[in-house]
Amino acid sequence: MKRYYCFARMRIIRKVLVRSNTHLPAQFLNYADFLWWKARGSPPRTPHLIKQRTVAEYGERYGLHTLVETGTYYGDMVGAMRSRFAEIFSIESDPELAAHAARRFGPYPHIHIVRGDSQVLVPSLVLHLTEPALFWLDAGYYGWAGEQRTRERLDIELKAILSDTKPHIVLIDDAQGFNGLNAAPTVGEFSRQIETSFPQRNVEVAQQIIRITLRNQSP
Ligand SMILES: C[S@@+](CC[C@H](N)C(=O)[O-])C[C@H]1O[C@@H](n2cnc3c(N)ncnc32)[C@H](O)[C@@H]1O
Repeated sequence: MKRYYCFARMRIIRKVLVRSNTHLPAQFLNYADFLWWKARGSPPRTPHLIKQRTVAEYGERYGLHTLVETGTYYGDMVGAMRSRFAEIFSIESDPELAAHAARRFGPYPHIHIVRGDSQVLVPSLVLHLTEPALFWLDAGYYGWAGEQRTRERLDIELKAILSDTKPHIVLIDDAQGFNGLNAAPTVGEFSRQIETSFPQRNVEVAQQIIRITLRNQSP
């Protein structure tokens, strides 16, 4: 019970801090969360700080200057990546969250918060891109409280990204949601489906992040 109240209080503090339009309070909480996770022996949950490091690492490893995110939420990933990518597009379907992020990132001309449904916007954004991009797909496909369990949504987005002639790299969050339940594929089924439809692609999973890269492409 005590632990529940502590957790609930943390969530309220987090909400207040994150709603402020600055990056530092949110990032401070992400560091605190990471240290708390470490202190508890790194349980099977990936702290946001590790997700940020993975996105930054893949951007650097593949020399990508554009980041496309689905699911802006409070803008933690955009905030953390703001000086690591020359251009950032983040798509959010919730009008309030999108408006909040648009205000927060208004002063940054290289950051574009796009309001709408990712399954509609990703295919048109892919056509608009002039160079390969890193895609961070995190719009609650499976395994998130606000999720919309639509397998077609992810399929539509991946088809647009992976069929494009530019060699985009894709990271998908919440691999634990690919568990074969409620119409979700298992990670194995999903990986096989991608590697069969796109034989030049390689699928790996680590830290609950699915990573779709190019086979035989040295980073
Ligand atoms: C897990 S949160 C994203 C966290 C964020 N990417 C980060 O790293 O800080 C999921 C977000 O996806 C948004 N979302 C859900 N369905 C969507 C859709 N069809 N198109 C765009 N955004 C969507 C939700 O409103 C929510 O803000």
